[in-house]
Amino acid sequence: MKYNELDLKNWKELDINVNSLWLIDKRDKTGKHSNIYHGNFIPQIPNQLIRRFTKKYETVLDVFIGSGTTLFECEKLNRSCIGFDINENILSYVKQNIPQSTDNLKYGIDICDVTNEKQFEMKISSWLEKINKKGVQFLIMHPPYLDIVKFTDKKEDLSLIADFRIFVEKFLTVVKNGLKYLEKSRYFAIVIGDVYKNSEVIPLPFYLLNAIKKNFGVKLKGIIVKNIEGNRGKLGKAGIWTYRALKSDYYIFKHEYILVFKKEE
Ligand SMILES: C[S@@+](CC[C@H](N)C(=O)[O-])C[C@H]1O[C@@H](n2cnc3c(N)ncnc32)[C@H](O)[C@@H]1O
Repeated sequence: MKYNELDLKNWKELDINVNSLWLIDKRDKTGKHSNIYHGNFIPQIPNQLIRRFTKKYETVLDVFIGSGTTLFECEKLNRSCIGFDINENILSYVKQNIPQSTDNLKYGIDICDVTNEKQFEMKISSWLEKINKKGVQFLIMHPPYLDIVKFTDKKEDLSLIADFRIFVEKFLTVVKNGLKYLEKSRYFAIVIGDVYKNSEVIPLPFYLLNAIKKNFGVKLKGIIVKNIEGNRGKLGKAGIWTYRALKSDYYIFKHEYILVFKKEE
């Protein structure tokens, strides 16, 4: 089954990164992206994944849409997009910039606690009905990294969870919800980083990976390591972080992960 429109006759010209190491030197500033949201991802991440794993007019679901990075890349690439988030403040910003739906391209942004099966079910069915589709062709998930950046005060917000075991359990419900609407043999990606807590590294991506492999019929297609040079929170503070690390015994996080899976069942 062909799941993208890459022209392999011209494979040398394609700017699709097929390596497991992505070194991106600066954020793509074209389009509607504003970089106002702490923890937003750089547009190149959804852009690369959408072009590799979907075709024109197919639908991308982002269950943590945040400031709309995926939505704006979908607009650029002529893909429909459904985006959910629990943070109504950021959603009202995204809604001001939401592209106009057309006959072929539909955009739906909604408030939803994606850990809540009933609520998710209700919202996704209603959006799929509006866009006249039964499922989505790509799923992207960029959750909070435990409680490192707090997004809202809502008790359902994953960014309030400090214990990685509880986080993994909750996250599995999100994967279950999303996978139900991802077409078989299609792909999903999780963008996630490690966390440093109680004087040690918590390899959150590996805990999630393990739990997902155990619980769902999926194949792991890639563990991409991506640099986090230019992280908003650490801009201009490189020196002080080096000093702090030297004074202690830890290593500064300079990478995060993009886990790519294929739904098999
Ligand atoms: C890392 S941010 C995503 C940023 C996004 N990729 C962007 O580019 O702006 C994680 C998002 O997850 C949302 N979130 C946390 N718990 C949630 C839940 N239970 N249901 C839906 N969204 C949730 C937060 O509000 C936050 O916007």
